[in-house]
This record gives sequence, structure tokens and C-alpha cells, in this order.
Amino acid sequence: MNKKYLSVLIFAVILIMAGCNVMNPDYPQPVPGEVGTDSKNDTGQALPIPALLEDTNSEAGRAEYTLRVQTGTTRFIGNLSTPTLGYNGSYLGPAIKLNKGDEVRMHVINELGDTTSVHWHGLEVEGTADGGPHQVIATGETWSPTFTVNQPAATLWFHPHVIGTTAIQVYYGLAGLLLIEDENSRALGLPDEYGINDIPLILQDRSFNQDGSFLYVTNMMDGAFGDYILVNGAITPYLDVSQVKMRFRVVNGANARNFNLRLADRSTFYQIASDGGLLEAPVLTESLFVSPGERAEIILDFSSYKEGEILELISDNALVMTFRVGGAAVDETSIPDRLAEIERIDERLALGTKTIELDGMGHMVTLNGRKFDMQRIDDDVTLGDIEVWEITTVGAMMMGSPGHPFHIHGTQFQILSRDGAAPAANEQGWKDTVFVRANETVRIIVRFNYEGVFMYHCHILEHEEAGMMGQLEVKNSFNN
Ligand code: C2O
Ligand code: CU
Ligand code: CU
Repeated sequence: MNKKYLSVLIFAVILIMAGCNVMNPDYPQPVPGEVGTDSKNDTGQALPIPALLEDTNSEAGRAEYTLRVQTGTTRFIGNLSTPTLGYNGSYLGPAIKLNKGDEVRMHVINELGDTTSVHWHGLEVEGTADGGPHQVIATGETWSPTFTVNQPAATLWFHPHVIGTTAIQVYYGLAGLLLIEDENSRALGLPDEYGINDIPLILQDRSFNQDGSFLYVTNMMDGAFGDYILVNGAITPYLDVSQVKMRFRVVNGANARNFNLRLADRSTFYQIASDGGLLEAPVLTESLFVSPGERAEIILDFSSYKEGEILELISDNALVMTFRVGGAAVDETSIPDRLAEIERIDERLALGTKTIELDGMGHMVTLNGRKFDMQRIDDDVTLGDIEVWEITTVGAMMMGSPGHPFHIHGTQFQILSRDGAAPAANEQGWKDTVFVRANETVRIIVRFNYEGVFMYHCHILEHEEAGMMGQLEVKNSFNN
């Protein structure tokens, strides 16, 4: 690279960084949680638990749910009220629990005063029910997709997916949980009492203006980052736990931030599930990495702690939340050695290899060298086809970016390799989002079982919005 080009580049970077500061005027002095601070002080909020949404269809095997997309205000800091968005409430949304085999009808009523859509992230359904950018719901309208749940027990989630406003609508609060149970998940004896020993943790980060309103700053390098960590909509909350095993369904619902979770005392825990369901066997670990869009289920065993002890869950050096250990209690749950059977997709059945190149930063992002175009179908796929996708982040414009979380709609895939090496045990289950590190090549194998148009993209929402997205169309070859 010649000197002139280099200095222009450096100048551009300085401009970009200066731009961020301009967009970030007199910042309130936030008090992000710090590891080792007195977590017993009463300023922290108790962890809110999203309510389970009521199924309004009493027939067996059928379920019907109503979501209202609303505006509202929420208190995060002191008495300040923050204008927010939510489903059936002011921030985030309820948890919808589905059973495998259920015939489901959803009603999404858009009361936002703006267009939105609701995408069921991780759900295997036809394109018309997926809730992507082609299923926009105009303000005042109701969208009522139907589908049959036909995939194993898993922690999925839902969020908007409209062109141009996905990132800001999610930042303002639009995200909810979609939980699937099946015969296997119910028979294992795992902690599965929702809100009691089975607790969702929706991880996000947010910044605030002095008046309490959200400060949405798009850091040009990587997307929108916040100064505060929120769990289920509360800033670094606490949860009171008994001396029992607790299951946590971790959802990275942040726009751009990766979480690298561990307990401050370095205790181990089990990971039992990835994006698309239970792993074959529990994986004992000291840390859990989740990039935007990814989920994982973990089990922490509090039986070796004493009453009154405080445990901190941290991400790198930031406090995420605390667990306040209470008394002993009867624990009839278990963590079986075998959790699920996962049929490996045979690589020899793959019809070809597709290359996905994720390149760039800030607004200068591309997928395979181009930006998303709603009018363009990037790939055609025949229903039932199996493909290998080779996803790379090689590119000159990766400065400062740790990588891209790559997501495909309407399917669950398996990771074949990372830079030629077999994936870690906790990445050998079903996935719909995989973090591809800078200068890494990840090979996945995927089967398309539903017809329609589906998105694939980087789940850093600012990258997605800037065009790091493509769309494929799955067609039944007998129909056309
Ligand atoms: Cu979580 Cu395209 O979405
Ligand atoms: Cu999705
Ligand atoms: Cu990205």
C-alpha cells in the first residue's frame, strides 16, 4: 500500500471516530456494573422474567397466540422514563412456549405507528411464515401466519426484520422468546419449570441520554454498542436462587456485542443446548461465548454454595448479573449423560459448495462483494437439497472487527469445521447462527426443508441493515 493511500485511510478512520463522538454529546456518566463492587447494595433490580403468553386455543394439538407491537415507556435508571417498544408490554415481550407437533396460528397486531415485521429466528417454517422483510406489517394491520412446529426442543426468539428499521426497533425493545418443547426434552428430568428453575436471560447493551431516553450510537466500526448491560430489560440485575441446579436459556439479543460469559469465581457449568436444540451430551465448561443472535442453554449448580453467597456472572470484565444464593432445597432434577440424538447430515450427500464472503465494517459491508437487494434472489435451491457453505471473513476491511455472526433463516445447520479443524463439542449440535472470526473459514452443512424466500446475513444488526445480507429461494422442482 503506498503512503498516500495509507494517509488517506488513516484520515478516514479518524473522521469516522470523530463522527462517533459528535453523535454522542454530553454523555451521562453511566455507572456500568463493575466486577467486585458490592452487589448486595439495593440499587440493583431483581431479574424480570418475561411472562408466558397464554395459548387462546383450547383444542389439543393447536395453539393460538396474539402479539401486540406497542410503544411505551420503561424505567431502567432511577425515576427516568425511557421511551421504548415492546410486545404486549413496554419493553421486550412475552415467552411463547410451543410443543413439537403443534399447529400454530399467530396474530401480530401492529400498533407501532410504523411498519414492522416479526421474524421467528430459528424456526423452520415456509418463507411466507418466516416474518422477514417480505412479510412487512403495515401500521394498524394484523399478520396471522400459521405453521406446524416440526423441530426439536429449542430456545428460539423473535424480533423485527424490516428493511431500514430492524436495528433501531430491536434496540428500542422489540424481542421475545419462542421456546419449543418435545417428548424428549420433557422426559429428561432437566430443570424445566419456567420462571422457577428454567430462566431465560436475554442479554443486551444500551446507552442512555441524560433525560433517560435511549442513545442509539452506531459505532462505525462494529455497530451499536451500549454502556450498560441489560438482562431481560434490567441493568445488571440480581436473581435469588436456592441451592439447586438452575437452567438458563441465554439469548444474545444485542445489536452488535459479543458476550463471553463466565462466573467470576471461575466455577464450571454445563452447556446443554445450542441455537437449534439440545446437544447430544452436556459439555462441562468455564465459559460461554455467544455472538448476536446465538442462544445457548446452560445449567449452573448452586448446591455447593452457602446461603448468603453472591456469585457474579461476568462478560470479559463487565458485570452481567449476580446470583444471591439462598437456602438448601430439594432438587429432583438431573443432567443426564445423553440429551438428544443428533443425526449428522452426511457430507457426501451435499450437492455443492457455496462460498459466502463477509467483508467490511461500518456501512462499508458486503456479502459476496455486493449489498442486499430486495429485488434480487441471490441463490436458488431445490427443496430438500443439502449444501455445504464455506463462510469466510477474509478481507482487507476487517480492521478492529473480531468477526461476523452469520445466520440463515428457515433452517438449522451443522458446523463441519473451523479453519479445517473439527468444531468444539458445544458447536456440534444444531445451529442457525455461527460466529465467523476475522480471517477464519467456517464450513457448515445445511438442508433446506421449506419452500420460500429466506434471508441469510450477518446478525450484527447494523451490518445487516447496511447490506450484509442475501436471500435464497427454495423451490419444489415438481411445482415449476
Ligand atoms: Cu435474528 Cu434474520 O434474524
Ligand atoms: Cu432469523
Ligand atoms: Cu457483520
